[in-house]
Amino acid sequence: MRTSSLPLLKHAQAHGYAVPAFNFHDLVDLQAILAVAEEEEAPVILMASESTIRFAGFPYIEAMARAALKDSRALFALHLDHGRELDNIVKAVRHGFTSIMFDGSYLPLAENIRLSAWVVDIAHRVGINVEGELGQIPGTEDDISVAEQEAGLTDPALVAGFVAQTQVDALAVAIGTAHGLYKGEPKLDFDRLMAIRKETSVPLVLHGGSGIPDALAQRAIELGISKLNVGTELRLAYTGSITRAVQKREINDPRPMLNIAREAVMEAVREKIRLCGASGRARAIEV
Ligand code: G3H
Ligand code: ZN
Repeated sequence: MRTSSLPLLKHAQAHGYAVPAFNFHDLVDLQAILAVAEEEEAPVILMASESTIRFAGFPYIEAMARAALKDSRALFALHLDHGRELDNIVKAVRHGFTSIMFDGSYLPLAENIRLSAWVVDIAHRVGINVEGELGQIPGTEDDISVAEQEAGLTDPALVAGFVAQTQVDALAVAIGTAHGLYKGEPKLDFDRLMAIRKETSVPLVLHGGSGIPDALAQRAIELGISKLNVGTELRLAYTGSITRAVQKREINDPRPMLNIAREAVMEAVREKIRLCGASGRARAIEV
């Protein structure tokens, strides 16, 4: 069943777990995510980034999500991840997305607030909820790249004002995670997370979920993270499984390869769903 992400996030917030949110790119990883969500009875957020939209196109993404409604019992939201182009945001609304992230984190604060509020205004008219971002998450996500020195952790003192002025439904925070894999162990600023949590009641989102040690991810969830974004680990499972398979034999049919990839992605998805404490939660969510 398709829903906006807010009921999922609110349920997670009320029950102390996080909704796993996965980047997908095509039919193979989309099916992998949905298959495990169904098996685990876990709510999931399917995230398409702007580069996935350039790769697959809105009509195909919309069609895959519609097919999932017929084919799968999984409870999911379809989310635009790191939306920066206003044109994409309007198109996402028209193409069946139920949830949008407006990423104005690279803009001066006043501009981030102004545009986030604009996006919230159009999205709320049609029942779509919006995630905003305050602070900047370093690393590379698809073709968005933020250098360490440009990145800035979320300032708790700005949180209440940002949420009040934009009316965002969820807030992505920068507390030390990064997009992509980590060179060493990431240092998460839990004091900052606690301070942010005190400033707002909207669900908080942790980006850069790949490669965070389980204990740190669980601590972040205990301290109020209600959505954990994971992309790189699924991409590595997908491409790594194919690379290994190709090294073993000559390939003349993509389907066996893609089956291997689907299974590898399923394994990574299952691990994150369990890490988030999301298994079995879909039954209890009313949408
Ligand atoms: O928005 C998506 C996530 O922040 C993905 O981050 O690729 O480091 O898992 P990741
Ligand atoms: Zn992200």
